[in-house]
Amino acid sequence: MKVLMVCLGNICRSPMAHGILRDRIDQGDFKGSVDSAGTGDWHIGESPDERAAAVSLKNGVDISDLRARQLQTDDFNTYDWILVMDDKNYADAKKLAPQSPRAKLERLTDYHPDSNINRVPDPYLEGGFEQVFQIVQTAVNRWVERQS
Ligand code: 4NP
Repeated sequence: MKVLMVCLGNICRSPMAHGILRDRIDQGDFKGSVDSAGTGDWHIGESPDERAAAVSLKNGVDISDLRARQLQTDDFNTYDWILVMDDKNYADAKKLAPQSPRAKLERLTDYHPDSNINRVPDPYLEGGFEQVFQIVQTAVNRWVERQS
């Protein structure tokens, strides 16, 4: 199973989700691979935001090697799952999707046990990196449990 985590810039939320799932894969909890991408093009080739990287590392997840790339139509034919962080990501991704995609497009927060949480807040614009990490981690872990 191939999973693609998607946010706006691919420097904060989706790299966190990418790193968290990568570690679960490395631990043998999920058979598959993970990558991440952004719907926007501003940060292509860049490392994760240093605040996102610091909070991740504090929580035991090293994302410093990741580099931003932009979501492409072909990703919908390559991946089994495309998991987005908020409604804007969903709408922007949907616009790129081919008619009969292989990938299932879903919001990551659909897997968060707290039904009041229906988006991963954008920490680049809104702050709250630690809280964002916790939301992403809880949802990714629940997603993994749901696959087995
Ligand atoms: P992300 O955060 O989507 O979680 O990576 C953002 C990063 C950059 C921008 C917006 C959100 N930006 O406008 O450059």
